[in-house]
Amino acid sequence: MHRVASQQTQKIALKASASRRKGLFITCEGIEGSGKSTQARALARYLQSKGWQVLETREPGGTPVGEWIREMFLRPDRNWHATDPFTPECEVALMLAARSQHVVNQLLPALQQGAIVICDRFSDSTLAYQGFGRGIPLPVLQRLIRWATRGLTPDVTFLFDLPVSRGLQRRWHDADRLDREPAAFHQRVRKGFLTLAQQHARRIHTINADRSARTISQHLITLLEPLLTDGLRTRRLVIKRL
Ligand code: TMP
Repeated sequence: MHRVASQQTQKIALKASASRRKGLFITCEGIEGSGKSTQARALARYLQSKGWQVLETREPGGTPVGEWIREMFLRPDRNWHATDPFTPECEVALMLAARSQHVVNQLLPALQQGAIVICDRFSDSTLAYQGFGRGIPLPVLQRLIRWATRGLTPDVTFLFDLPVSRGLQRRWHDADRLDREPAAFHQRVRKGFLTLAQQHARRIHTINADRSARTISQHLITLLEPLLTDGLRTRRLVIKRL
Protein backbone atom coordinates (compact mmCIF):
# COMPACT_ATOMS: atom_id res chain seq x y z
CA MET A 1 0.00 0.00 0.00
CA HIS A 2 1.37 3.41 -0.87
CA ARG A 3 0.55 6.65 0.84
CA VAL A 4 1.95 9.54 -1.15
CA ALA A 5 3.05 12.31 1.19
CA SER A 6 4.68 15.51 -0.05
CA GLN A 7 6.49 14.06 -3.08
CA GLN A 8 7.52 10.99 -1.11
CA THR A 9 6.10 7.56 -1.41
CA GLN A 10 6.06 5.79 1.89
CA LYS A 11 5.53 2.07 1.79
CA ILE A 12 3.54 0.46 4.55
CA ALA A 13 4.56 -3.13 4.87
CA LEU A 14 1.63 -5.39 5.57
CA LYS A 15 2.02 -8.12 8.10
CA ALA A 16 0.17 -10.67 6.09
CA SER A 17 -0.39 -13.73 8.19
CA ALA A 18 -1.18 -16.26 5.49
CA SER A 19 -0.26 -14.48 2.26
CA ARG A 20 2.22 -11.73 1.62
CA ARG A 21 0.11 -10.06 -1.02
CA LYS A 22 0.23 -6.29 -0.89
CA GLY A 23 -2.47 -3.77 -1.65
CA LEU A 24 -6.12 -3.81 -0.81
CA PHE A 25 -8.79 -5.20 -3.11
CA ILE A 26 -12.23 -3.64 -2.64
CA THR A 27 -15.22 -4.60 -4.78
CA CYS A 28 -18.63 -2.94 -5.13
CA GLU A 29 -21.60 -5.13 -5.96
CA GLY A 30 -25.35 -4.79 -6.31
CA ILE A 31 -28.35 -4.99 -8.59
CA GLU A 32 -29.03 -2.58 -11.46
CA GLY A 33 -29.46 1.00 -10.32
CA SER A 34 -28.01 0.38 -6.86
CA GLY A 35 -25.70 3.38 -7.22
CA LYS A 36 -22.54 1.29 -6.74
CA SER A 37 -20.68 2.90 -9.66
CA THR A 38 -21.26 6.39 -8.23
CA GLN A 39 -20.06 5.18 -4.84
CA ALA A 40 -17.01 3.41 -6.29
CA ARG A 41 -16.01 6.64 -8.03
CA ALA A 42 -16.57 8.76 -4.93
CA LEU A 43 -14.59 6.36 -2.77
CA ALA A 44 -11.71 6.33 -5.25
CA ARG A 45 -11.63 10.15 -5.28
CA TYR A 46 -11.70 10.30 -1.51
CA LEU A 47 -8.87 7.80 -1.07
CA GLN A 48 -6.82 9.54 -3.77
CA SER A 49 -7.34 12.86 -2.00
CA LYS A 50 -5.94 11.22 1.14
CA GLY A 51 -2.82 10.24 -0.74
CA TRP A 52 -3.47 6.58 -1.42
CA GLN A 53 -2.55 5.04 -4.72
CA VAL A 54 -5.85 3.89 -6.21
CA LEU A 55 -6.87 1.92 -9.28
CA GLU A 56 -10.55 2.44 -10.07
CA THR A 57 -11.84 -0.10 -12.52
CA ARG A 58 -14.89 -2.17 -13.48
CA GLU A 59 -16.16 -5.50 -14.76
CA PRO A 60 -16.88 -6.50 -17.34
CA GLY A 61 -14.20 -4.17 -18.62
CA GLY A 62 -11.08 -2.55 -17.26
CA THR A 63 -8.86 -3.65 -20.17
CA PRO A 64 -9.23 -3.11 -23.94
CA VAL A 65 -10.33 -6.72 -24.43
CA GLY A 66 -12.64 -6.51 -21.42
CA GLU A 67 -14.30 -3.32 -22.65
CA TRP A 68 -14.85 -4.93 -26.04
CA ILE A 69 -16.49 -7.93 -24.37
CA ARG A 70 -18.61 -5.55 -22.25
CA GLU A 71 -19.96 -3.83 -25.33
CA MET A 72 -20.75 -7.17 -26.96
CA PHE A 73 -22.34 -8.50 -23.75
CA LEU A 74 -24.51 -5.52 -22.85
CA ARG A 75 -25.24 -3.87 -26.20
CA PRO A 76 -25.44 -6.63 -28.81
CA ASP A 77 -28.20 -4.73 -30.64
CA ARG A 78 -25.88 -1.78 -31.18
CA ASN A 79 -22.99 -3.80 -32.48
CA TRP A 80 -24.35 -6.44 -34.74
CA HIS A 81 -27.74 -7.74 -35.68
CA ALA A 82 -27.65 -10.73 -33.35
CA THR A 83 -30.74 -12.86 -33.60
CA ASP A 84 -29.65 -15.65 -31.27
CA PRO A 85 -30.07 -15.04 -27.56
CA PHE A 86 -27.04 -15.51 -25.29
CA THR A 87 -26.95 -18.88 -23.57
CA PRO A 88 -26.15 -18.79 -19.83
CA GLU A 89 -22.93 -20.68 -20.57
CA CYS A 90 -21.94 -18.11 -23.19
CA GLU A 91 -22.50 -15.35 -20.64
CA VAL A 92 -20.21 -17.12 -18.17
CA ALA A 93 -17.53 -17.67 -20.79
CA LEU A 94 -17.58 -14.00 -21.78
CA MET A 95 -17.47 -12.77 -18.18
CA LEU A 96 -14.58 -15.07 -17.33
CA ALA A 97 -12.64 -14.18 -20.47
CA ALA A 98 -12.91 -10.50 -19.55
CA ARG A 99 -12.04 -11.23 -15.91
CA SER A 100 -8.95 -13.22 -16.75
CA GLN A 101 -7.57 -10.33 -18.84
CA HIS A 102 -8.40 -7.92 -16.04
CA VAL A 103 -6.89 -9.96 -13.22
CA VAL A 104 -3.66 -10.82 -14.97
CA ASN A 105 -2.99 -7.57 -16.82
CA GLN A 106 -4.36 -5.00 -14.35
CA LEU A 107 -5.41 -6.17 -10.91
CA LEU A 108 -2.52 -8.39 -9.86
CA PRO A 109 0.15 -5.90 -11.01
CA ALA A 110 -1.62 -3.02 -9.22
CA LEU A 111 -1.99 -5.02 -6.02
CA GLN A 112 1.61 -6.12 -6.28
CA GLN A 113 2.55 -2.42 -6.35
CA GLY A 114 0.54 -1.89 -3.19
CA ALA A 115 -2.40 0.01 -4.67
CA ILE A 116 -5.94 0.11 -3.37
CA VAL A 117 -8.02 -1.43 -6.16
CA ILE A 118 -11.68 -0.43 -6.29
CA CYS A 119 -13.53 -2.64 -8.71
CA ASP A 120 -17.13 -2.05 -9.77
CA ARG A 121 -18.35 -5.70 -9.85
CA PHE A 122 -16.27 -8.87 -9.72
CA SER A 123 -16.86 -12.59 -9.13
CA ASP A 124 -19.88 -12.14 -6.84
CA SER A 125 -21.73 -10.71 -9.86
CA THR A 126 -21.11 -13.92 -11.80
CA LEU A 127 -22.49 -15.97 -8.91
CA ALA A 128 -25.51 -13.66 -8.52
CA TYR A 129 -26.37 -13.14 -12.21
CA GLN A 130 -25.29 -16.35 -13.92
CA GLY A 131 -25.71 -18.54 -10.82
CA PHE A 132 -28.80 -17.35 -8.95
CA GLY A 133 -30.20 -15.44 -11.96
CA ARG A 134 -29.62 -17.90 -14.83
CA GLY A 135 -29.46 -21.12 -12.83
CA ILE A 136 -25.90 -22.29 -13.53
CA PRO A 137 -24.87 -24.48 -10.57
CA LEU A 138 -22.78 -22.52 -8.08
CA PRO A 139 -20.08 -25.20 -7.63
CA VAL A 140 -19.45 -25.14 -11.39
CA LEU A 141 -19.14 -21.36 -11.33
CA GLN A 142 -16.95 -21.33 -8.24
CA ARG A 143 -14.52 -23.71 -9.87
CA LEU A 144 -14.37 -21.75 -13.11
CA ILE A 145 -14.01 -18.46 -11.25
CA ARG A 146 -11.07 -19.81 -9.22
CA TRP A 147 -9.43 -20.89 -12.47
CA ALA A 148 -10.03 -17.62 -14.34
CA THR A 149 -8.98 -15.38 -11.44
CA ARG A 150 -5.97 -17.44 -10.37
CA GLY A 151 -7.61 -17.52 -6.97
CA LEU A 152 -7.86 -13.74 -6.50
CA THR A 153 -10.66 -12.80 -4.09
CA PRO A 154 -11.58 -9.36 -2.73
CA ASP A 155 -10.48 -8.29 0.75
CA VAL A 156 -13.64 -6.25 1.24
CA THR A 157 -16.91 -6.17 -0.70
CA PHE A 158 -19.61 -3.55 -0.36
CA LEU A 159 -23.01 -4.84 -1.42
CA PHE A 160 -25.32 -1.94 -2.26
CA ASP A 161 -28.79 -3.24 -1.59
CA LEU A 162 -32.18 -1.78 -2.41
CA PRO A 163 -35.54 -3.06 -3.70
CA VAL A 164 -35.52 -4.14 -7.35
CA SER A 165 -38.30 -1.72 -8.26
CA ARG A 166 -36.26 1.23 -6.92
CA GLY A 167 -33.16 0.14 -8.81
CA LEU A 168 -34.91 -0.43 -12.13
CA GLN A 169 -36.62 2.96 -11.86
CA ARG A 170 -33.19 4.55 -11.94
CA ARG A 171 -32.18 2.64 -15.09
CA TRP A 172 -35.19 2.96 -17.37
CA HIS A 173 -33.71 5.74 -19.52
CA ASP A 174 -30.61 3.90 -20.74
CA ALA A 175 -31.48 0.24 -20.30
CA ASP A 176 -28.99 -2.36 -21.57
CA ARG A 177 -29.63 -6.05 -22.32
CA LEU A 178 -29.51 -7.12 -18.67
CA ASP A 179 -31.55 -4.15 -17.41
CA ARG A 180 -34.35 -5.31 -19.71
CA GLU A 181 -34.61 -8.73 -18.07
CA PRO A 182 -37.93 -9.31 -16.22
CA ALA A 183 -38.24 -8.18 -12.60
CA ALA A 184 -38.27 -11.84 -11.44
CA PHE A 185 -34.71 -12.24 -12.78
CA HIS A 186 -33.52 -9.18 -10.86
CA GLN A 187 -35.27 -10.48 -7.73
CA ARG A 188 -33.31 -13.74 -7.99
CA VAL A 189 -30.10 -11.74 -8.47
CA ARG A 190 -30.82 -9.59 -5.42
CA LYS A 191 -31.63 -12.65 -3.33
CA GLY A 192 -28.41 -14.21 -4.60
CA PHE A 193 -26.33 -11.25 -3.48
CA LEU A 194 -27.98 -11.29 -0.04
CA THR A 195 -27.33 -15.02 0.27
CA LEU A 196 -23.67 -14.50 -0.63
CA ALA A 197 -23.48 -11.72 1.97
CA GLN A 198 -24.75 -14.13 4.62
CA GLN A 199 -22.29 -16.81 3.54
CA HIS A 200 -19.33 -14.41 3.54
CA ALA A 201 -20.32 -12.13 6.38
CA ARG A 202 -16.75 -11.08 7.19
CA ARG A 203 -15.97 -9.98 3.63
CA ILE A 204 -19.29 -8.70 2.28
CA HIS A 205 -20.80 -5.66 3.96
CA THR A 206 -24.39 -4.91 3.01
CA ILE A 207 -25.06 -1.21 2.60
CA ASN A 208 -28.58 0.24 2.52
CA ALA A 209 -28.48 1.89 -0.93
CA ASP A 210 -31.90 3.49 -0.62
CA ARG A 211 -30.42 6.67 0.88
CA SER A 212 -28.81 9.77 -0.53
CA ALA A 213 -25.47 9.32 -2.31
CA ARG A 214 -23.83 11.65 0.19
CA THR A 215 -25.04 9.68 3.22
CA ILE A 216 -23.85 6.42 1.69
CA SER A 217 -20.42 7.89 0.86
CA GLN A 218 -20.01 9.03 4.46
CA HIS A 219 -21.02 5.58 5.67
CA LEU A 220 -18.38 3.90 3.48
CA ILE A 221 -15.67 6.23 4.68
CA THR A 222 -16.61 5.53 8.29
CA LEU A 223 -16.36 1.82 7.60
CA LEU A 224 -13.06 2.02 5.76
CA GLU A 225 -11.12 4.45 7.94
CA PRO A 226 -10.35 2.01 10.77
CA LEU A 227 -9.29 -0.56 8.22
CA LEU A 228 -6.85 1.83 6.62
CA THR A 229 -5.31 2.79 9.94
CA ASP A 230 -5.24 -0.04 12.48
CA GLY A 231 -6.71 -2.97 10.64
CA LEU A 232 -4.57 -2.72 7.58
CA ARG A 233 -1.28 -2.49 9.40
CA THR A 234 -1.92 -5.78 11.08
CA ARG A 235 -3.77 -7.17 8.08
CA ARG A 236 -6.86 -7.75 10.20
CA LEU A 237 -9.42 -7.07 7.55
CA VAL A 238 -12.33 -6.71 9.88
CA ILE A 239 -14.56 -3.67 9.46
CA LYS A 240 -16.72 -2.68 12.37
CA ARG A 241 -20.41 -2.51 11.64
CA LEU A 242 -22.04 0.75 12.62
P1 TMP B 1 -23.08 -2.33 -14.79
O1 TMP B 1 -21.62 -2.11 -14.75
O2 TMP B 1 -23.84 -1.16 -15.29
O3 TMP B 1 -23.63 -2.84 -13.53
O4 TMP B 1 -23.35 -3.44 -15.92
C1 TMP B 1 -22.76 -4.67 -15.90
C2 TMP B 1 -23.81 -5.71 -16.21
O5 TMP B 1 -23.17 -6.97 -16.42
C3 TMP B 1 -24.83 -5.90 -15.10
O6 TMP B 1 -26.10 -6.08 -15.68
C4 TMP B 1 -24.41 -7.21 -14.47
C5 TMP B 1 -23.76 -7.96 -15.60
N1 TMP B 1 -22.73 -8.91 -15.16
C6 TMP B 1 -23.01 -10.26 -15.20
O7 TMP B 1 -24.11 -10.67 -15.61
N2 TMP B 1 -22.05 -11.13 -14.78
C7 TMP B 1 -20.83 -10.72 -14.33
O8 TMP B 1 -19.99 -11.55 -13.97
C8 TMP B 1 -20.56 -9.30 -14.29
C9 TMP B 1 -19.23 -8.82 -13.84
C10 TMP B 1 -21.54 -8.45 -14.73
